[in-house]
Amino acid sequence: MTPRLRNVAHRDHLLARGREADVFLRPDGLLRKRSRSGRDPRPEAELMRHLRAHGIPVPRVAEADATEIVMEYVPGPRMSQELDAKPWRARRLGRQLARLHRDLDAVPAPDFLPGDGALLHLDLHPGNVVLGPDGPVLVDWADAARGDRSLDVALSWLAVEVGRVAPLRRPVRGAFLGAFLAGRVDAAVRRAMPAAARIRLGRARRDAAEVAAVSRLVERCSG
Ligand SMILES: Nc1ncnc2c1ncn2[C@@H]1O[C@H](COP(=O)(O)OP(=O)(O)O)[C@@H](O)[C@H]1O
Ligand SMILES: [Mg+2]
Repeated sequence: MTPRLRNVAHRDHLLARGREADVFLRPDGLLRKRSRSGRDPRPEAELMRHLRAHGIPVPRVAEADATEIVMEYVPGPRMSQELDAKPWRARRLGRQLARLHRDLDAVPAPDFLPGDGALLHLDLHPGNVVLGPDGPVLVDWADAARGDRSLDVALSWLAVEVGRVAPLRRPVRGAFLGAFLAGRVDAAVRRAMPAAARIRLGRARRDAAEVAAVSRLVERCSG
């Protein structure tokens, strides 16, 4: 019994399997993120340091090598979990995601990111925002690139709009999106929606219902 318990206490604990990476909590309280596809995470770590230096709330990076990043663990629910658990906070959370995008609008893009233009997260949905004790923290910078900020906002909108929710939850999503749209969405974001749709549909196999929902939003944005 005792040796086995000791073993368990020394092992890293699988915290999450994200879209592309496995995330472990170490016994010392730090978090390890390791790509399942063998991606070199050092650019992501470098970007996180850059963001922190510009006042964007991201986990503090302890170290990074060719296989993994070790970073601060931020306790707290994801914004998506908070939305499920406390639907009455939907408008406030929608405003918060809009404000995070506006904060990113002001950050210079580092030269080492691919593409041209401003800094883009490219996967900033409520599952990549951890609501920590000191406020929201943005995680998962692996897809970051440079381009038009409107595209980043359009991708966030699209992710929330086409995600599956139970019919009774639709008003909650509506309230979240109402506040998000009022906070950051403008004509340029609507113009970026076809490009956002191409990125989303190109990323993973999507079912027919989602493809239809993506088309409806593209259509709405063109009207
Ligand atoms: N520093 C962190 N602190 C707390 N939770 C984290 C942290 N980094 C990642 N997570 C959790 O792990 C999940 C997966 O990590 P993420 O970086 O999003 O990987 P993926 O690219 O595979 O989606 C996140 O959605 C988040 O819930
Ligand atoms: Mg993620």
